[in-house]
Amino acid sequence: MFNSPPDWPEPIIRVQSLSQTCIDSIPERYIKTPNDRPSINSSIDDANIPIIDLSDLYGGDKDAQLSILKQISEACNEWGFFQIVNHGVSPDLMDKARETWRQFFHLPMEVKQKYANSPKTYEGYGSRLGIEKGAILDWSDYYFLHYLPLCLKDYNKWPDLPPSCREVFDDYGKEVVKLSGRLMKALSINLGLGEDFLQNAFGGEDIGACLRVNFYPKCPKPDLTLGLSSHSDPGGMTMLLPDDQVPGLQVRKCDHWITVKPHRYAFIVNIGDQIQVLSNAIYKSVEHRVIVNSDKERVSLAFFYNPKSDIPIEPAKELVTLDKPALYPAMTFDQYRLFIRMRGPRGKSQVESLKSRT
Ligand code: OGA
Ligand code: NI
Repeated sequence: MFNSPPDWPEPIIRVQSLSQTCIDSIPERYIKTPNDRPSINSSIDDANIPIIDLSDLYGGDKDAQLSILKQISEACNEWGFFQIVNHGVSPDLMDKARETWRQFFHLPMEVKQKYANSPKTYEGYGSRLGIEKGAILDWSDYYFLHYLPLCLKDYNKWPDLPPSCREVFDDYGKEVVKLSGRLMKALSINLGLGEDFLQNAFGGEDIGACLRVNFYPKCPKPDLTLGLSSHSDPGGMTMLLPDDQVPGLQVRKCDHWITVKPHRYAFIVNIGDQIQVLSNAIYKSVEHRVIVNSDKERVSLAFFYNPKSDIPIEPAKELVTLDKPALYPAMTFDQYRLFIRMRGPRGKSQVESLKSRT
């Protein structure tokens, strides 16, 4: 249906380098149209996304488990976004993973450039998402790599510095995959499906898992740009490890943007487009974006838990009724991701444009 392009349409400029040279202005390419700037419709109240304690989900008694399932269900229905604490991943490993990535971004540019990515697979060190020539760009660099399936996991495309990084990222990936599997069960049960339904629909053991580490350098004009433009995540479910010092993620709630206040050692979980499709829009992927700061950089690890890339994803038959016909046609995640990547982040227009016109 689409072809991936071999290279970027323009020379790549690292935002981290720009951040070091731009003192009191930013290049026009990074200036958003007034409607997309951070001050527009920002929420002034102190709302936050729900925080859910998972400690009793597997160990607790039946009532405690049901109460957690209910909290997850409400969070999925009302927000599409929630934080989880006592999730089983060790705080030490979370710190290590984040700080090791921070060190990577602080290595000399020549070291990072060895891993420069292309739009063919996106793996490696990158500074833009879409491939549209002349597009307005986001104020961030990133590193993208695959954990699963194993045939796509390639240590040569992972950094070799800092020295411990491959080991740390490996351990981190294993733990986050395990946690994601548990949450998939909770979501399946809450949708009224068998507990393994979503996992099986994603391809069983053969799911995909990848990591995008986002690096948001300091920006002299944070009111004019965004670290990451509004988007919904194309995959299944995202487990975000935010910066422990600097907030920045904003979630759209009606016409407002709520700035997430990360809880210590929480993961921020959100529903992606593929679960919106599988649940026939009972659960919706929610728009989010990232703002930047003039005096603080920010690092975040977005772990994407995705369907196997070549199997058709479509609304679960159990959730399709005469009253609520299938809203989306079947599409593989490979096809969908390519479609997304051609254009870069664009709110929710992509998943909405899939809606069957029947
Ligand atoms: C993402 C994302 C949010 C953040 O990488 O898809 O939404 O806080 N990141 O960096
Ligand atoms: Ni996202």
